[in-house]
Amino acid sequence: MMMEFIFSILLIGTLQVTSCCSNINGHTFQILKNKRCEAYTVIDTLYNIRSQTICLAKCAVLAECAGVNFEKRSTTCELIASSKIITCLFTTDADWNHGYENEHSQDCQALWEKNFTQDGVYIIRPNPNQSAFNAYCDMQGGGWTVIQRRYDGSVEFHNQNWTEYKNGFGDVSTEHWLGNDLIHLITNSGNYEIKFDLMTPDNVWHNATYSNFSIQDEIADYELSIGPFIGGNTDAIGASNPKQEPHGMKFSTLDVVNDLRNGSTCVEMYNGAGWWYNSCTTVNLNGNYSTDGVYHDHKQGIKWKPLAPSDTSVSLMATTMKVKRSP
Ligand SMILES: *[C@@H]1O[C@H](CO)[C@@H](O)[C@H](O)[C@H]1NC(C)=O
Ligand SMILES: *[C@@H]1O[C@H](CO)[C@@H](O)[C@H](O)[C@H]1NC(C)=O
Ligand SMILES: *[C@@H]1O[C@H](CO)[C@@H](O)[C@H](O)[C@H]1NC(C)=O
Ligand SMILES: *[C@@H]1O[C@H](CO)[C@@H](O)[C@H](O)[C@H]1NC(C)=O
Ligand SMILES: *[C@@H]1O[C@H](CO)[C@@H](O)[C@H](O)[C@H]1NC(C)=O
Ligand SMILES: *[C@@H]1O[C@H](CO)[C@@H](O)[C@H](O)[C@H]1NC(C)=O
Ligand SMILES: *[C@@H]1O[C@H](CO)[C@@H](O)[C@H](O)[C@H]1NC(C)=O
Repeated sequence: MMMEFIFSILLIGTLQVTSCCSNINGHTFQILKNKRCEAYTVIDTLYNIRSQTICLAKCAVLAECAGVNFEKRSTTCELIASSKIITCLFTTDADWNHGYENEHSQDCQALWEKNFTQDGVYIIRPNPNQSAFNAYCDMQGGGWTVIQRRYDGSVEFHNQNWTEYKNGFGDVSTEHWLGNDLIHLITNSGNYEIKFDLMTPDNVWHNATYSNFSIQDEIADYELSIGPFIGGNTDAIGASNPKQEPHGMKFSTLDVVNDLRNGSTCVEMYNGAGWWYNSCTTVNLNGNYSTDGVYHDHKQGIKWKPLAPSDTSVSLMATTMKVKRSP
């Protein structure tokens, strides 16, 4: 914050042409008049863009975009990537305006605090040194950043490999796994709790919240930390026996097995669903989806022990895993 503040003062001091601010769909851009920022990474150059506002709006919908150069005369709009914005230089070319977005929200809670209370896809940036990205925000009860969401079986979760779980799959506006790298980035930018929303085949929603949720980076195989059960009506994790406890476990997929089971691996038994298996698990939210909530091949459905145990054919109909900073 302080750095950004000083940076702005310096810009104003040297250029004296800053106008604050242009607000495009909740994105605040600083405008430097008669300046073109010579960035090394131009994402795209768009022509026939009639106004600076339209140019900024093109940038606002792209997570990796942090600024634009706009030239009114030739109606040219250059979109610039976030990572290189600080290093760009200014020219005295009089026909250009430069606009840059100097602040992204850390997570959905930060957006909620700025009065964005509608559920949907937003751009967040948990670590200011890294690129921003899209995430689904569940704004009911204070701005939750969604990391997994299932409700219709349109996306396959169980046959995805390590790289796919690392980078995420599905679409953040529908069913998806956000991606282990991004979950790491979010949960290491503060102290987070995790809430599980779980719908049983009778269309009833249940929930469980745990404190101190985080995962390590890929080098540490995304090792999970999850604290005590702190709210809700169905605890599957705090109540699990030591051989099924996910706390301290590394992530496993079909191609990278880190579980503690002897013999056939947990991922094989659970039909390729990526998870933090111990010598297996009380929870498997990445299993095969069943549109009627019945799975005859028991372990393969979507499992949460108190609601849908893995020795029964019950499979959950909808799940959301979402995180929020602890109060
Ligand atoms: C959010 O809305 C409340 C109530 O209308 C208002 O008091 C507050 O200043 C707003 N906050 C922001 C950041 O706009
Ligand atoms: C961002 O980078 C700076 C400089 O390398 C470093 O001091 C700071 O800790 C980094 N911030 C985060 C949140 O990683
Ligand atoms: C993971 O799956 C993707 C998509 O099917 C594939 O392109 C990629 O090669 C796979 N990676 C490995 C390491 O198997
Ligand atoms: C767990 O989170 C709480 C805040 O919710 C914090 O006070 C506590 O120190 C954390 N415990 C650990 C082991 O990180
Ligand atoms: C979570 O479960 C509790 C306990 O059953 C219930 O009172 C509460 O309404 C649920 N909250 C949400 C947001 O689903
Ligand atoms: C796996 O086998 C090893 C060696 O026999 C044994 O020490 C370990 O306890 C076994 N692990 C489990 C989870 O059964
Ligand atoms: C789960 O899905 C996989 C691949 O889509 C399929 O091969 C398997 O038969 C399914 N399991 C069951 C019990 O239907």
